[in-house]
Amino acid sequence: MGTKRHFRVWRGDSDGGEIQDFDVEVNDGEVVLDIIHRLQATQTPDLACRWNCKAGKCGSCSMEINGMPKLGCMTRMSTFEESETVTITPLRTFPIIRDLVTDVSYNYQKARENPAFAPPAGVKPGEYRMQQVDVERSQEFRKCIECFLCQNTCHVVRDHDENKPAFSGPRNFIRAAELDMHPLDARSDRKEYAKEHQGLGYCNITKCCTEVCPEHIKITDNAIIPLKERVVDRRYDPLVRLGRKILRRDQLPAEAVSVGAPAGETPFSSARSPQTAAVGADGKLEVAELLSGHQGGPSPFGDEQAFPLPEGNISYIHPAPDPDIPPEH
Ligand code: SF4
Ligand code: SF4
Ligand code: FES
Repeated sequence: MGTKRHFRVWRGDSDGGEIQDFDVEVNDGEVVLDIIHRLQATQTPDLACRWNCKAGKCGSCSMEINGMPKLGCMTRMSTFEESETVTITPLRTFPIIRDLVTDVSYNYQKARENPAFAPPAGVKPGEYRMQQVDVERSQEFRKCIECFLCQNTCHVVRDHDENKPAFSGPRNFIRAAELDMHPLDARSDRKEYAKEHQGLGYCNITKCCTEVCPEHIKITDNAIIPLKERVVDRRYDPLVRLGRKILRRDQLPAEAVSVGAPAGETPFSSARSPQTAAVGADGKLEVAELLSGHQGGPSPFGDEQAFPLPEGNISYIHPAPDPDIPPEH
């Protein structure tokens, strides 16, 4: 048997609207989207709300619940006190269409401006070969469900429509970072492009976007900060040095593996040349980047290691047999 709880829901369109009060039944195990559906079924059949999967995967049911940008289908009613009023409003950063439905086309326009994947010359689809180690960093960004909660939260555009033409926003920064880290992407200017054409400089690393991401993508640490430049030249990174020692890299052939880089261009991915540290005009590193736990996310194997490892570089010690366990026949 459910309980009656109090809800406040914004209703209106682009000409204006108001928050209206409702008492709705809530049952065990329900989420906010269930309550909206019950409202539509019992009191407000014309209440507009966008949804699709009810499983946190389509990114449609983004809304603000008690002021926090969330997915309606992933916000359990059990997270509120029984006496608590739950206020549901549309995403604030995008123009209202009706009730809880907003026009999110800004995000798609900005996505179109992101330069597409540039395949390497001379390699046809079906011939792409990548190592898992090469895609580990960028794979995280493929979890994005395009709910645009991060875009809605970012203060650069939340109350500043005037910034929208110049700012692509965190969702598009993770796409730029994903392509920048893609082992086969032939463009070598993605960081520069993000700075000059996508408004990367507007971001001051507040991490609000990361806090609201339902896929727990570390937008700021793993995408924006590496885009804003690597802090430490990987050649001098202590982790990489340790990796080199373990793998006795000095004994490896000096030639790095190049995955089809055009003549004169920086090779991609694991063969990418080390980059200089990003220092300001005063010659100092940016403090925010120094504090990050993921400074450039260096691989412990170093950037230029090819897999599988040459046999000479693998040392494996077989465990001593346990005298208490009889040998298998
Ligand atoms: S970290 Fe940058 S992109 Fe993310 S919310 Fe803050 S300013 Fe916006
Ligand atoms: S990065 Fe996260 S918050 Fe932003 S659109 Fe993708 S899933 Fe949503
Ligand atoms: S309905 Fe698909 S994410 Fe909520």
